[in-house]
Amino acid sequence: MPEQIQSTRIPSYYSVSFWRRWAKLYDRVVRLSFVPFGGEKRFRQKFVAMAGLKDTDRVLDICCGTGSTTALIAPEVCQGQVIGVDLSPDMLAVAQKKNVAAWVSFQRASVDALPFSEGVFDHVFCSYGLHELPREIRAAALKEVRRVLKPGGKFLALDYGLPKNIIFKLPISAFVRLFENDTAYKMMKGSLAAEIIASGLDVIFQKRALGGMFQIISSVKTTEAGNLD
Ligand SMILES: C[S@@+](CC[C@H](N)C(=O)[O-])C[C@H]1O[C@@H](n2cnc3c(N)ncnc32)[C@H](O)[C@@H]1O
Repeated sequence: MPEQIQSTRIPSYYSVSFWRRWAKLYDRVVRLSFVPFGGEKRFRQKFVAMAGLKDTDRVLDICCGTGSTTALIAPEVCQGQVIGVDLSPDMLAVAQKKNVAAWVSFQRASVDALPFSEGVFDHVFCSYGLHELPREIRAAALKEVRRVLKPGGKFLALDYGLPKNIIFKLPISAFVRLFENDTAYKMMKGSLAAEIIASGLDVIFQKRALGGMFQIISSVKTTEAGNLD
């Protein structure tokens, strides 16, 4: 079992009250935003399916928020374990209501200091979470992801992308500029794949989704010798 040491160290950029306000609205706003793109659940389902989970896998969902991705991971690993980690007690309260399976639990912790031993998870997921983290926290979080993964374990990230086509580029850039912070815009314009590689993970694939407005990156923890075992 992963170690369960509670950590509530709050990085200075993080606002508990901001996420308290958002916890009440978040699911509704996300659901509505994805209506023109075939629905939020369908999009999340496609993302989770890319991991190829086994029913005995031990999975971590970082920046799990209200647990919408966690809820789609859970049925795939009914003989395993799912842990969601987030810093907002209010987002976690919503997640807990949505995830009642016995093998799913939540912990409050910052992703740059994960309260787990080394090499305990088969998969780590992060949906729409990395853009929230300032660059140095993101780098520390990605190192933590690598640390807690088993050798051969995989990290699947879903976040904003920068489309090549102006028809998609303009609306998503405007959206991120208006509703997210500068950190998100910088991440979107940079190379998330390069940041993941810098953490020591090896990128398996990078896919563009919804015209490139989102990117999905799969990576794996190999040993220094390049072996999975
Ligand atoms: C945009 S929400 C994404 C929620 C969820 N993963 C989803 O797919 O809807 C970002 C989440 O990241 C969390 N977060 C931001 N910084 C964090 C940190 N340092 N440690 C843990 N969670 C953090 C916020 O509390 C928030 O719940």
